[in-house]
Amino acid sequence: MKKILCVYYSQSGQLTQIVKNFTKPFEKSGNYSITFAPIEPVNDYKFPWKGYNFFDAFPESVNHIPCEIRPLNLENEDFDLIIFAYSVWYMSPAIPSNSFIMSDQAKRIFKNKPVITLLGIRNMWVVAQEYIKEKVNELGGNLVGNIVLQDRAENLTGIVTISYFLFTGKKDRFLGFFPKPGISDKDIANVDLFGEIVKNYFENNMLDKLQEELVKAKAVKINSYLSTVERMAYKRVFLKWAGFILKKGGPNNPSRKKRVKMFAYYFPFAILVIAPIEYIFFLIFAPFRIKTIKRDKEYFSGVKLK
Ligand SMILES: Cc1cc2nc3c(=O)[nH]c(=O)nc-3n(C[C@H](O)[C@H](O)[C@H](O)COP(=O)(O)O)c2cc1C
Repeated sequence: MKKILCVYYSQSGQLTQIVKNFTKPFEKSGNYSITFAPIEPVNDYKFPWKGYNFFDAFPESVNHIPCEIRPLNLENEDFDLIIFAYSVWYMSPAIPSNSFIMSDQAKRIFKNKPVITLLGIRNMWVVAQEYIKEKVNELGGNLVGNIVLQDRAENLTGIVTISYFLFTGKKDRFLGFFPKPGISDKDIANVDLFGEIVKNYFENNMLDKLQEELVKAKAVKINSYLSTVERMAYKRVFLKWAGFILKKGGPNNPSRKKRVKMFAYYFPFAILVIAPIEYIFFLIFAPFRIKTIKRDKEYFSGVKLK
């Protein structure tokens, strides 16, 4: 029996559902033992979110500062394939997922093992994935596949619906006419097709060719505008704001309250005013950047580090 480990953290259960559906082909074959290992923070992040807590998680997410987590409850730490499923918080892996990847247990588990990343996010993930690529590399793991399930709603609509979802916990249509928030039920149900591809390539010892096939199957799609804006915003805006807030202390520290609140006002402004302006600039300059856009698309859909 080959042994598969699925490590994940999900607040609403959306990513848990993705992980469960993804592993169905392995389960059905009967040749695998699958261990599901949810990451458990000692003080969990409350879901649905309250306004202040949502923004208070920003500096630690962006600066990759871990929280305390319980060690995964595993009888044996030796696996043949690791599925590391994570969602993205502020263009960074969710704090509990990052806390695991920084742990000593991850060092033992990932060493010399093939790793698949499986993301359940809204629409901005390339900065987080670049960081995870580096981390897996440092841990001695071999990242062989990446699958990204994302919200299909147009960017601004998606911001409205994900906010409704994160602040109420409800996955129905906001005001009756917005699309359902998050990843569509159809995409969640069909993720087993990607599981099937991974299983075939794993069984045929062709994991080095896996990502090519996943890209063909549209398991990863790159939106050039979003990936450009995301990289710029992370470096020029997020890191600066995070540093500014962190000067006043760690999570829940009352002395940073004012700065967290300032960020809470700035954030919607950036999304609603700055991002659309950047979109116009992106469109104007796109014809002169065709080569770069093509190169970035190829690079970010792959699993290798630059
Ligand atoms: C604090 C916070 C920040 C988020 N930031 C992003 C982001 O930068 N990019 C993105 O695509 N999704 C973002 N999301 C959405 C999550 O990636 C994810 O889709 C959602 O939280 C549902 O995940 P769950 O399975 O843990 O419930 C964010 C969610 C939270 C809670």
